Amino acid sequence: MRINDHPILGRAKRGRLVKFALDGKKMTGFEGEPIAAALMAQGRKSFGTYGKRGTPRGLFCAVGKCTDCVMTVDGLPGVRTCITPLKAGMHIETQKGLGEWKLKKKRK
Ligand code: FES
Repeated sequence: MRINDHPILGRAKRGRLVKFALDGKKMTGFEGEPIAAALMAQGRKSFGTYGKRGTPRGLFCAVGKCTDCVMTVDGLPGVRTCITPLKAGMHIETQKGLGEWKLKKKRK
């Protein structure tokens, strides 16, 4: 679900529709919106699991101050998806605990 016309902020301004991958599954979102927003709009609420407990975690503060929304983005673990803009072709993965470095070829 997306808010298209907010009573205080007005109509949403969005970038172009782009494709990205979540755990290998193709998805779409608007370029420049936070990754977390693109995922939430498609019904995704769990972004990873806590290391020790293994319980799910997701959006909490939504302003980049905790780390509950971290995911592995283009091989880099610990990316705060609530403040990271979505770009075309991103590879986003659910992160377990601290995650693993999976750096691949650098994207342009
Ligand atoms: S939800 Fe707290 S840093 Fe993203």
